[in-house]
Amino acid sequence: MNRILAGIRPTGKLHWGHYFGVLQNWVELQKNYDCFYFIADWHSLTTEYANTQKIKTWVKEVAKDILAGGVKPENLFLQSLVPEHAELHLLLSMMTPLGWLERVPTYKEMRQELVDKDLNTYGFLGYPVLQSSDILLYKANKVPVGEDQVSHLEFTRELVRRFHFLTGKEVFVEPQPLLTQSPRVPGMDRRKMSKSYGNALLLDDSPEEIAAKAMQTLTDPARKRRTDKGNPDVCTVFDYHKLVSDKETIAWSDKGCRTAGIGCVECKKAMAKNAVEYFKEFREKKAYWDGKEKQLFEIIAEGSKRARKVAQATMEEVQEALGIKYGL
Ligand code: TRP
Ligand code: SF4
Repeated sequence: MNRILAGIRPTGKLHWGHYFGVLQNWVELQKNYDCFYFIADWHSLTTEYANTQKIKTWVKEVAKDILAGGVKPENLFLQSLVPEHAELHLLLSMMTPLGWLERVPTYKEMRQELVDKDLNTYGFLGYPVLQSSDILLYKANKVPVGEDQVSHLEFTRELVRRFHFLTGKEVFVEPQPLLTQSPRVPGMDRRKMSKSYGNALLLDDSPEEIAAKAMQTLTDPARKRRTDKGNPDVCTVFDYHKLVSDKETIAWSDKGCRTAGIGCVECKKAMAKNAVEYFKEFREKKAYWDGKEKQLFEIIAEGSKRARKVAQATMEEVQEALGIKYGL
């Protein structure tokens, strides 16, 4: 059977980019695969180690978002509740060449981008080793990731081959990326949607927030007056229509824009109305968890128990391969 493993770092509430790019895909994959999804709280520490008091809140928010989005509770776990991730990370770190880590493109990029954080740490350099451990513990053969994560999977496969070569034992499965074509979801200002840019539509935004954000969203900059004909292909509001509106509304917006038959305010209002409707069920499902945080963590703990069984079985094999299984 094909086994899927995927993780998400809890760094805030999830937004539309996560929903259309990640969550929908996770939910779909549950139909045909044995799926393990987790919240990578230890990975958050690689960048948020100076800011740790927020992590618990973020874990809660992301867990609610994931469950409200339709992931089965039994498929969800929390990384730190499965300590085998740390154990395997340690053991793999012993044989990981420094040069491999320094060469990972995201390492260089993130260190340059996140200038407000000192990422000159042992833990951050080892990020791909922790990610490899996440995947290898479950012997997942498919990992649904975006383009940016492909180099991490390449790293993981190299590490698998090195482990097998050095120990002479075939313990792990080489994971392949599962690249799915998901729509590009730009932020309100057309840059990449990100909480840190302040351009994100959150999954639990209220109808009022959605309406206000629709008004702020960038339109075709060439369409200055109501009488100017516009081009929906360069309009972020239209990108959103394609995600949340029905065919008729999309056609109405497309034609109305090109012919100056409709105004941008009208178009934005229609989009907001559909977005409110689109995420209505999600908001209700997420709100169900308000005041039930204890129950939420119990569910996560249950899922983590299921994951831990698999992880422990793999660790037995790893210890055996490394000659440190003492049969106690
Ligand atoms: N690095 C991933 C990201 O930033 C998150 C992640 C951690 C992950 N461990 C993983 C993804 C294992 C897939 C598999 O998006
Ligand atoms: Fe965008 Fe709609 Fe205005 Fe056209 S009419 S520019 S699609 S908001």
